[in-house]
Amino acid sequence: MKAIIPVAGSGTRLRPHTLTKPKVLMNVAGKPMIYYIIEQLIREQIVDEIIMIVGTMSNKIIDYVTGTFDFKFSFPMQQEAIGLGHAISCAKGSIKKNEDVLIILGDTLFDVNLRDLTDCEHSVIGLKKVQDPRRFGVAEIRDNRISGFVEKPASKDVSPSNDAIVGIYYLKNSDNLFDSLDRLINKGIRTKGEFQLTDALTLLLESGEKFCPYYVDGWLDCGKVETILETNSYLLHKFNLRYKIPGALIKDPVFIGANAVLDNCIIGENVTVGNHCIIRNSIIKNSIIDDYATIENSILANTLVGEHSVVSGKMKELNIGDYSETID
Ligand code: UTP
Repeated sequence: MKAIIPVAGSGTRLRPHTLTKPKVLMNVAGKPMIYYIIEQLIREQIVDEIIMIVGTMSNKIIDYVTGTFDFKFSFPMQQEAIGLGHAISCAKGSIKKNEDVLIILGDTLFDVNLRDLTDCEHSVIGLKKVQDPRRFGVAEIRDNRISGFVEKPASKDVSPSNDAIVGIYYLKNSDNLFDSLDRLINKGIRTKGEFQLTDALTLLLESGEKFCPYYVDGWLDCGKVETILETNSYLLHKFNLRYKIPGALIKDPVFIGANAVLDNCIIGENVTVGNHCIIRNSIIKNSIIDDYATIENSILANTLVGEHSVVSGKMKELNIGDYSETID
């Protein structure tokens, strides 16, 4: 079986960070988010190759992945980010005839046992019950099988359920998947302007493919500022690392990178401090401060600071990309 990880999106909801860095390389609890997905796939030994669909800033992703992991990868290019369905179709040439595929979105982490998910005689879609299904693809369930898919329902009333599709898919019969994607693309069938994977899944359902739901408890979205901070906090609690640093009061959980200098500061809870950061006379909580950033005389919360940025002065909440400066 092969894994397909699409990472070619433009990450508009995480600008300005994604203007200089691919979303999947953004630091979460001390590592780029893509690290956790690949590490788990390799550790659980359920795939023999990882196919990453790359687009914008592909070189940065390829350099990181091949420099970090000794595994078989291929990197088909999606020339234009015109939808998840289109991105998956770019993997077609890398998959053997009718091979099973495991699709995992590059900006979503899962605290699940992948073997449980793939240990099923039918295709499987990862789901999670949500309060408001309007931002998601939604599955309709009948007799413990999926009977329909709707992409981002217009209102809660028209949504067939609260079962959101969270970004992990195990698909048998990949030939049928690629045929359905080809049909969408050749006929120009877009939903909300994009070639959607849910539309291809609907075609598969109509052609008799069976789908089982798999409810995912540990679903860790990293697509927006609030969710990347929540995921950072979740992972920091899970890793539960302990630090004792003279000159700093540490409120666990935190991650402190190599060669970080902390002087007269309070760090935590839920803070990632990247490698080589300098933090002086500051209080930081619930934030991610990326490598080589300098923070002085500041009080920060719910904040993302990009690499090599300098923050000086009293602030509250910031969202600034690489090489920024905010000085009082
Ligand atoms: P998202 O829609 O969540 O990510 O796609 P995005 O498009 O990068 O971000 P926003 O919405 O502009 O903020 C989920 C996953 O699918 C990939 C993305 O890279 C992400 O990992 N994707 C999406 C593609 O590879 N190609 C696409 O055309 C769309």
